[in-house]
Amino acid sequence: MTLAQKAKNTMSLLIWRSRYALVYLRFRAYTMIPQHTYISNLILMRRHRHVPGAVVECGTWKGGMIAGMASMLGRDRSYYLYDSFEGLPPAKEIDGPSALMWQKSKDSKDYFTIAQLMRQTPAQRCKKPGSTTR
Ligand SMILES: C[S@@+](CC[C@H](N)C(=O)[O-])C[C@H]1O[C@@H](n2cnc3c(N)ncnc32)[C@H](O)[C@@H]1O
Repeated sequence: MTLAQKAKNTMSLLIWRSRYALVYLRFRAYTMIPQHTYISNLILMRRHRHVPGAVVECGTWKGGMIAGMASMLGRDRSYYLYDSFEGLPPAKEIDGPSALMWQKSKDSKDYFTIAQLMRQTPAQRCKKPGSTTR
């Protein structure tokens, strides 16, 4: 690969990274997914964007992740969003130490339950606590 091609690839990567960051900023109030993971999901989605067909999200919560993916994939697909609206079941050993830890630390700002959500007004429900939108 020539130096010019390498420079072009690096520029393209930087441009896409900043686009992903803007998508995250736009929808971060509606997702519990941390920025790094959110952007990794967008990278994965872009890598496989040539695959035709519908997109299915199992566990949509307030819709922030699928909104970001749909904003990039466009309107020419069907999107099917599912949620149990009962929160996550209790973590087991098989889920790993971080899942067990996450469910134990109920005071964390990142811990959300559906019960907490149902106590909120519809306007509050649509946003992650303490977040802002652009
Ligand atoms: C980690 S969150 C999903 C994050 C979400 N995609 C976002 O952008 O923030 C998990 C969601 O999955 C839902 N859920 C848990 N178990 C489920 C199941 N068996 N089927 C469907 N949804 C489920 C929960 O109610 C919760 O809203």
